[in-house]
Amino acid sequence: MRILVIGGGGREHAIVWRLTRDAGTQVYACPGNVGMTGVRRLEAANLDVAGVVARVKETRAELVVVGPENWLAAGLVDGLRAEGIPALGPDRGGARLEASKAFAKEVMEEAGIPTAGYAVFTEAGEAKAYIDAHPAALVVKADGLCAGKGVVVAGSRSEARQAVDDLTAQYGSELVVEERLEGREVSLLGLTDGERVLPFPAARDHKRVFDGDRGPNTGGMGAIAPPADVSEDETRRLCRQFLEPVVVRLRERGILYRGVIYAGLMLTRDGPRVLEFNVRFGDPETQSILPLVGGNLSELMAAAAAGDLGRMEMPWKAAAAVTVVLASGGYPGPHTTGKVITGLEEVADLGGVYVFHAGTGLEEGRLVTAGGRVLGVTAVGDSREAAMTLAYRAADMIHFEGIHYRMDIGSSPTEK
Ligand code: AMP
Ligand code: GLY
Repeated sequence: MRILVIGGGGREHAIVWRLTRDAGTQVYACPGNVGMTGVRRLEAANLDVAGVVARVKETRAELVVVGPENWLAAGLVDGLRAEGIPALGPDRGGARLEASKAFAKEVMEEAGIPTAGYAVFTEAGEAKAYIDAHPAALVVKADGLCAGKGVVVAGSRSEARQAVDDLTAQYGSELVVEERLEGREVSLLGLTDGERVLPFPAARDHKRVFDGDRGPNTGGMGAIAPPADVSEDETRRLCRQFLEPVVVRLRERGILYRGVIYAGLMLTRDGPRVLEFNVRFGDPETQSILPLVGGNLSELMAAAAAGDLGRMEMPWKAAAAVTVVLASGGYPGPHTTGKVITGLEEVADLGGVYVFHAGTGLEEGRLVTAGGRVLGVTAVGDSREAAMTLAYRAADMIHFEGIHYRMDIGSSPTEK
């Protein structure tokens, strides 16, 4: 099967890596990244949906797996399906589940899915009046796709009011103000054909830059799968409670959702609540999840895209994975790039370790840093502790000027 993966980050590297392990696959990436050796990469600079569809047709791909949400929200899957090309990912209507927080709240309400109490505003003054009239523990969110940056967890009313001004200035006037919840977070992902949802092993993302979950938010400094406090039974139960009803509700609304559906959950004292839905694989969760998926994932993905998972199941390996993200000096603030990366050959000799590229490039034949999050080092072990030990052994072997990474992925306070 010829499969084309859209995107070029660590998540897509993990998808490409996993699909090449299935028998009989030929994998392409558009645009991919320099870590994806052995797969053909297609140039995508300055392409719109029609341009990407044309590229895809050249490869005669039998399945397209779309990584990033912006392509889904832009209607890439609609464009591919119109040409008869099977694609894993929701169409533009389904992508609204992530692209519009207000829409996601509406669907959750209709499907009876527990989520934080909220209100939607299109006018800053009304949002501030609401903030003044409610308990101080609030979260202010811009409505659209903001690459993970449109959320302010406010410490006080004045911070929440400030967030209203900042977010509207940056992202426009549509805002969601919601109740601030407390608890551990879980990333719950499933593969769906529009009817059935097969859960992936649950994962936990570590968004803060410093150990102990402190410091500013990042695009993700690491991930583990599965979290110690979420058993396989619990994951399957959460899938039935949080993912299946949404897919059903979307179908009732005329949206056939075929792809990956992802609920960001908070395990509160009153039970799990949804913080957000994403319409694609998570980054860096995917780097920890996919090494734990057994069987033939390509066939499962093709069946989901075709709307026919039938009675197929997704086998999970009885193992644990830890992904440590190696970041550039200064990240998530302004950071340097172009630093030479060494040590990957040595790491390649370690069994059970996979290095997924995110922000890397080639300069004069040498591998260099080219972004804030540079590499994701994933280790798989019989236990989380074993995976952690191995991941840090590998991370320690990799060098570039300014490198920094968290030392507690898998053992942070959220894991204990
Ligand atoms: P989101 O993009 O909606 O997932 O928000 C990003 C992060 O903000 C989440 O991973 C949480 O850590 C935090 N967050 C979002 N909504 C809430 C909430 N209602 N209560 C507490 N924290 C939240
Ligand atoms: N890891 C969070 C996300 O992919 O949105």
